[in-house]
Amino acid sequence: MEYRIGVIPGDGIGPEIVAEARSVLDCVAQVFGHQFQYEEILLGGASIDACGVPLTDEAIAQAKASDAVLMGSIGGNTTTSPWYQLPPDRRPEAGLLKIRKALNLFANVRPAYLYEELKGACPIKDELIGEGFDMVIMRELTGGLYFGERGTEEIDGILVAHDSLTYNEQEIRRVAVKGFDIARKRRKKVTSVDKANVLDSSRLWRKVVEEVAKDYPDVSYEHMLVDNCAMQLVRDPGQFDVILTENMFGDILSDEASMVTGSIGMLSSASLNDTKFGLYEPSHGSAPDIAGQDIANPIATILSAAMLLRYSFDLDREADAVETAVKQVLAEGWRTADIYSEGTKKVGCKEMGALICERIRK
Ligand code: IPM
Ligand code: MG
Repeated sequence: MEYRIGVIPGDGIGPEIVAEARSVLDCVAQVFGHQFQYEEILLGGASIDACGVPLTDEAIAQAKASDAVLMGSIGGNTTTSPWYQLPPDRRPEAGLLKIRKALNLFANVRPAYLYEELKGACPIKDELIGEGFDMVIMRELTGGLYFGERGTEEIDGILVAHDSLTYNEQEIRRVAVKGFDIARKRRKKVTSVDKANVLDSSRLWRKVVEEVAKDYPDVSYEHMLVDNCAMQLVRDPGQFDVILTENMFGDILSDEASMVTGSIGMLSSASLNDTKFGLYEPSHGSAPDIAGQDIANPIATILSAAMLLRYSFDLDREADAVETAVKQVLAEGWRTADIYSEGTKKVGCKEMGALICERIRK
């Protein structure tokens, strides 16, 4: 089959890790007889440098014309990069928010699980980890505080800033449905996270989630307050299957969940809309401090490419092959610097990509 893949290398380590993920996709294409056509799309700092804005209309059109988009990471050092001297709506992150909205990518899927091989990197005590954990955070991505009305003004000589958190029931329902759908394919448990003891938007969230849950009698669900959830993630991460939550809570909890795995360089993510289209990117940032040194870990991006094959192209066998190759390489002891420990073999970004390709070819 022939597919069009939009590729956003982005900033910092983005171009290096995307190059490895592309090699892996090429390798899959060869082994399984597909054709992947790539088109590079500018986003973030790279787009500011080339076009003066973090996302152009042309880039949006390119993304829309693709079957799926693979992205590295965007953004730079917020204290030293000139990008952060620009007004907020011209900075790299504004481009990311804009593309999420323009493509209606309301469902952000962020898996966080403990790799058996990397158990030593998990910062939680053995007795709390137990059998390990394997969860997915389903984060609402195009509403809430990120897209609400905001502003800063001076009132009676005092600066006042406000950001508003708004959700309508349709926005909540569509992401809740995605959350329950995913849970149905997993361990059938949804933990819906809110702050219903304080926020109206959370009370509506709870009400809609309860309505959606009625259509999924085979999936159990519970509500959890966000502060409690932050605590439970480090107390007993094994209790979670699918965490369903709004945009801002999901931003914070997904960083926490990935840190708990001890290997943020391993975690992929997908941002989906109502069609087969998706934007796939690692859960980690652009790490400008290590860019260009060939020491970044490409695995999260490679696993994001596997998610792309699975969710957007329905190529399950191909996705399995990539995931199995990653596990093999880890089992053989190969590690990039971020997951290196004594007794394992340290490799750079390029070599890690090459090793994974070799295992897929076998
Ligand atoms: C993420 C990031 C973004 C977000 C930033 C870069 C705008 O932290 O994808 O989690 O807050 O959504
Ligand atoms: Mg974040």
